[in-house]
Amino acid sequence: MKGVRRVAESITITDNRTGESIEIPLEDGGVSAAQFSKLLPGTWFFDPGFTATAACESAITYLDGDAGILRYRGYPIEQLAEESTFLEVAYLLLNGELPTASEYDVWEREITLHTFIHENVRKRFLEGFHYDAHPMGMLVSAVAALSTFYLDAKDIFDADARQKQVIRLIAKMPTLAAAAHRFSVGMPFVYPDNSLKFTENFLSMMWKIAEPRFEVNPVLARALDVLFILHADHEQNCSTTAMRVVGSSHSDPYSATAAAAAALYGPRHGGANEAVIRMLTEIGSLDNVEPFIESVKSGQGGRLQGFGHRVYKSYDPRATIIKRTADEVFAVTGKNPLLDIALKLEEIALSDEYFTSRKLYPNVDFYSGLIYQAMGFPLEMFPVLFAIPRTAGWLAHWQEMLDQDSKIARPRQLYIGADARDYVPMVGRPG
Ligand code: ACO
Repeated sequence: MKGVRRVAESITITDNRTGESIEIPLEDGGVSAAQFSKLLPGTWFFDPGFTATAACESAITYLDGDAGILRYRGYPIEQLAEESTFLEVAYLLLNGELPTASEYDVWEREITLHTFIHENVRKRFLEGFHYDAHPMGMLVSAVAALSTFYLDAKDIFDADARQKQVIRLIAKMPTLAAAAHRFSVGMPFVYPDNSLKFTENFLSMMWKIAEPRFEVNPVLARALDVLFILHADHEQNCSTTAMRVVGSSHSDPYSATAAAAAALYGPRHGGANEAVIRMLTEIGSLDNVEPFIESVKSGQGGRLQGFGHRVYKSYDPRATIIKRTADEVFAVTGKNPLLDIALKLEEIALSDEYFTSRKLYPNVDFYSGLIYQAMGFPLEMFPVLFAIPRTAGWLAHWQEMLDQDSKIARPRQLYIGADARDYVPMVGRPG
């Protein structure tokens, strides 16, 4: 089922310099820039940040920011978070349909069989980093390095080779992520335990010490799996756009995924939940919440981290689910002491005209960091925890883009620099 209705409507634009008009159909909520160009050749749309530009057609994720709706392949995020698993959601994103029982068994087995990484990646590559390397920097580099281990990665139009890289990337991401963490805290690497499920296996690689088999708390494993579901895709966000842009040059999927992960690293995107924890820690006590809000409003205190979203102009539906998950996690781990500060911040901001008039509501990152912290993850691991599930979304978009035979991404610019001028030798330059 398509998320957007087709409506037989159109707009007409007139070039007032020539009086010429052109009628352009409105399709799926968009107008074709190619049609505009027929009337206005050489005139470009000026749209920094792509706030009004649809760069592709996509059938993967539907998002209505005003209504607070998020669906993967038509299925509401609330139902998936309640009833599905991350691996099933990854299959859904990549294949368009929920798997049958036998399809799921094959998928899960394939992923499980590819969790190991080449010993050279761990021993020579990852162990070559400086002792205090940020695990996200390590992950970005390690994913890019994988392309050198799988020479068939370049066969992006070979269905079997493509599927192999998809499986490898989804399967190895938790192993690389945990390896980066273990290295950064000086702990020995833990090999995957293929008797465990995807998320449990990741937790085992993160936390196992000397016990023969790591016993995963099922509430925490499920909570992390739900967080993975919520983070698996979010249509044309910054990192997915990076994936599509890099992939549009037909580079291999490891290189494109590394680029996407690099985009996710920034504090305006995947780094926001880390910024939330730093902000809450800095606020420190309930008494400081109101003065902090005032400092944000006056522009002195920076932004309220974990608030606001380019697309959601009402409550982020993922934030609602995460709030519930947080309660379940805190029942096991004990309450994160920063929670009360977060709740008070939210309460004040949601009744403050500054935030309501700008439609600034908590986003997915406002509470996710509190959960990760309560589960024992260091702040540096937060963007890494985001990258693990988002790999499924990135790859779904990469496949879709290749199947659409899309053009190489190559925007235009409005040149605002100097006019043509002659080179001046250094001796002849003023000053
Ligand atoms: N705190 C205070 N004011 C804010 C915030 C915020 N978190 N976010 C936006 N505003 C204000 C801006 O100052 C601006 O005000 P003005 O109109 O008076 O100048 C107005 O709201 C619009 O802001 P923009 O920057 O134009 O909004 P944009 O859509 O470009 O930014 C973004 C979205 C980057 C997410 C922004 O809201 C932000 O920086 N939030 C904090 C960081 C964050 O939580 N990022 C995670 C996003 S979710 C994700 O990536 C998974």
